[in-house]
Amino acid sequence: MTVLDAKIEITGTDPETGYSSFRLGSFEFRRDEYFAHVTWPKGSHIMEIDRFLRAMVRDIGWGFFYGWIFFDDVFGTTNHYGTVDIFAGAYDRGCKEAGIDFLETFSAEAVSEAFTTISQDWISEGYDPLNAPLETGTPIGKKGEERKEPLLRAFIAADRMLGLEGDKPVRREEDGFPINRAFADLDYDKPDIECEPGFEGQLHAINLFDHIARSNVTWNPSISAVTGGNICCVTSEEHMLPVIHGNDRNEWFIQLSDEIHWNIADKNTGAPRGRIVMKAGDVCAMPADIRHQGFAPKRAMLMVMENGTPGLEKRYASGELPPYPVDFG
Ligand code: PHB
Ligand code: FE
Repeated sequence: MTVLDAKIEITGTDPETGYSSFRLGSFEFRRDEYFAHVTWPKGSHIMEIDRFLRAMVRDIGWGFFYGWIFFDDVFGTTNHYGTVDIFAGAYDRGCKEAGIDFLETFSAEAVSEAFTTISQDWISEGYDPLNAPLETGTPIGKKGEERKEPLLRAFIAADRMLGLEGDKPVRREEDGFPINRAFADLDYDKPDIECEPGFEGQLHAINLFDHIARSNVTWNPSISAVTGGNICCVTSEEHMLPVIHGNDRNEWFIQLSDEIHWNIADKNTGAPRGRIVMKAGDVCAMPADIRHQGFAPKRAMLMVMENGTPGLEKRYASGELPPYPVDFG
């Protein structure tokens, strides 16, 4: 694998719209009022700007996640944990047959810097791609005022129980985290904590529904509990997962409220493999050889369990581990 030693360059600024265009390696990126345009030596691609930006800020914030992040069927990134591929058509049967597929590998820092630079230039005040579409403005149109709030909200890992002295705070009304409109009908009892003398300050409990109901972002697991390689993320989901995730390992979903519809396809070709409708209480494992995208018609609470054990992706890729976690046979 050749890793290109390239950095993001600005190639120009459109006087009409105010947006800059960029080059990273052989990829060129520009936007107009409605669309993002990506070109590479053998081809070009066009995407709705909202979709492109919602995918791009998550890809950066998640550190390129596990495996493949498809912005749509054609364009995306693959995480090799240190290096990152940017690909166009490399996992799309039609593009491959037409011979226009392309892939280049960069250091993870170069891609992160590039995507951050592009997002900062292309996102204006009043639009937050991490919010649900009904809860933010639009990215359509000419460049506006520069965004003042931070663009990215990365995973934040809790070291101890959320809300325990010295750890991450639970979200509170007075800190600007109201209960989301979609969860106004839930009960939010606080747990009783009865602690043996001598263990005060070490034992704690929260109402997790209360915490998730106050999340102001969607499809962005924000505070996560980590125990060794086990990563437990909770998130509130509304509208569609703005990326199609191609797994390089199993991951588990536990549906905590409402419902999410998942489209599941072959990772390499995109050929459909299944559809799942998960309702509150349902549990499912996404296999290591698929890509998936979720759709939440109403805001829903989801728990995602990831196995962050380093090197796991190689054990699945080599076939040493089967692509599914449990054999019921
Ligand atoms: C996933 O790709 O599995 C995923 C990503 C973000 C979410 C939920 C699921 O909020
Ligand atoms: Fe996933």
